[in-house]
Amino acid sequence: MPKPKVFVTRIIPGAGLMKVRAGCDAEIWPEQLPPPREVLLKKVATCEGLLSLLTDRVDAELMDAAPKLKVVSNFAVGFNNIDVAAATVRGICVGNTPDVLTDATADMALTLMLAAARRLVDANRYALAAQWKTWEPLGHVGQDLVGKTLGIVGMGRIGFAVAKRCRGGWGMSVLYHDVRTSEIADRELGARRVDLDALLAQSDFISVHANLDDTTRGMFNAAAFRKMKPTCVFVNTARGPHVVQRDLIEAVRTGTIFAAGLDVTDPEPPNPADPLLSTPGIVVAPHIASATVTSRNGMAQIAADNLLAGLSGKPLRAWVNPEVGPRRR
Ligand code: DGY
Repeated sequence: MPKPKVFVTRIIPGAGLMKVRAGCDAEIWPEQLPPPREVLLKKVATCEGLLSLLTDRVDAELMDAAPKLKVVSNFAVGFNNIDVAAATVRGICVGNTPDVLTDATADMALTLMLAAARRLVDANRYALAAQWKTWEPLGHVGQDLVGKTLGIVGMGRIGFAVAKRCRGGWGMSVLYHDVRTSEIADRELGARRVDLDALLAQSDFISVHANLDDTTRGMFNAAAFRKMKPTCVFVNTARGPHVVQRDLIEAVRTGTIFAAGLDVTDPEPPNPADPLLSTPGIVVAPHIASATVTSRNGMAQIAADNLLAGLSGKPLRAWVNPEVGPRRR
């Protein structure tokens, strides 16, 4: 029996790629940059499976160009690049890669929190530019973490992992904003669910972990930054469009907030001339939160398992739209 035809939009770690190659007739896009849109539309035309990245837009147009498509397996926990409702209506299964990147992403949020709070990147630039002349009593003064208040926006797996580190490591108090109460955060971390305005006003550190959708897009705008403390450190490891970037730049530039650490931007990458990359107090990383060996291998394995399950009519290991049910292709 011929193997099902699939398109994989980038080279992923071998742990997953081997499984995909063993079970499928797989074409793997070999370039560093994503396949251009017209190429992607052509490639999926005869495919039963697509292993996509967060940089590939998987929308109704693409699904209609792929009449045999049974499964879209995203190599990411986030799936805002996929029109899940359009997939469900067409009987296409969608998978993602949760859990395996929780710790790596939480660690990255803390890396950014510390780097921004201590103005590490500015200080490093200063040292590299030979501006370091002596020990300066008033130079490079940052913010402490011990005993401060952390505000988590989106208390899911990653938000909880960040809060746990901050609570255990620095004895921080934890506030969170979420559509539902997290009993485990309340019980184990003494966390308190509050409305967004209270979180913005009371937190010394704010870390974003919400899904990106129409309710959260642009939620961190000038009005939100004005509600924060002037000492606040803002961290985003979720998705760039949560933030109105020009408002964030202005907020840091004018001292409305103290600093920001971003692993995600809008767009990605930013234009090299974007002031986001040159404003003192803003630390930017190129969307690397899940970039550890363990995480990326785990993501590759789940993505491969999801793809194979979707092709063979089995339940996906991490299934975004199980409600597709008997309608699945
Ligand atoms: C995700 O998985 O959604 C991250 O943004 C990349 O690993």
